[in-house]
Amino acid sequence: MTVHFIGAGPGAPDLLTLRGRDLIAASPVCLYAGSLVPEGVLAHCPPGARIVNTAPLSLDQIVQEIQHAHARGQDVARLHSGDLSVWSAMGEQLRALREAGIPYTVTPGVPSFAAAAATLGAELTLPGMSQSVVLTRTSGRASPMPEGEALANFARTGATLAIHLSVHVLRQVVQDLLPHYGADCPVAVVWRASWPDERVVQGTLATIEAAMDEGIDRTALILVGRNLGAADFGHSRLYAADYDRRYRPIGAAPRFPESGA
Ligand SMILES: C[S@@+](CC[C@H](N)C(=O)[O-])C[C@H]1O[C@@H](n2cnc3c(N)ncnc32)[C@H](O)[C@@H]1O
Repeated sequence: MTVHFIGAGPGAPDLLTLRGRDLIAASPVCLYAGSLVPEGVLAHCPPGARIVNTAPLSLDQIVQEIQHAHARGQDVARLHSGDLSVWSAMGEQLRALREAGIPYTVTPGVPSFAAAAATLGAELTLPGMSQSVVLTRTSGRASPMPEGEALANFARTGATLAIHLSVHVLRQVVQDLLPHYGADCPVAVVWRASWPDERVVQGTLATIEAAMDEGIDRTALILVGRNLGAADFGHSRLYAADYDRRYRPIGAAPRFPESGA
């Protein structure tokens, strides 16, 4: 018996890995984390599977569910939205399983920041603009931010910010970022990226608040950075005609003479 932690992706049911789909289909028990896991993903459960929404359960109750499946020798598909490496509460579940001696696997999923960038048609790391993406959030009731991770600290770097779990405090986010990025810095709020009803609001730090629509709450990502919508960035050297590289040796004395094939 194994518990398979599976990243269920940002919302569109076909943004699930083939491995994730197959593990769900082979597991007689499925525990899924609330409304962010779409029904289309649950449709891969085998007929007669025990399917449990864990949103109203405590950690102990979730572990109990797993222990019952363990006693029956039944594999469990444990689904969380997006990818499991960020804000999935997987860590505490894995620790409980390690203590109980219950085996597990982890299958990654498409994270919401990648889905939001895809919706915008945006590369978040443009040459000469920003080469780093910070995945962050603001303090919540359940998770205070460590002191050194205030938005202003990341903002000092000028990196592209993907701010999760924070659209309800957009005003504060704007206030924190204005001194570092400037009023004309582009901002995009992507709500329910990849869902059929996804919505995008775009503006600048000066205008984004006024541009927000009613009803954009919770499942939204705030992307901030100079490279959103930028047109005046440089080219990556990788594809430059004169860039001598392993797979495209240039000139009489290429840097990687052996590996042109
Ligand atoms: C508990 S976190 C889960 C993050 C998830 N593990 C991931 O990989 O993106 C929930 C937050 O992720 C963001 N989020 C999740 N799905 C989203 C989507 N489809 N569109 C926009 N933001 C989303 C929102 O900021 C939301 O408040």
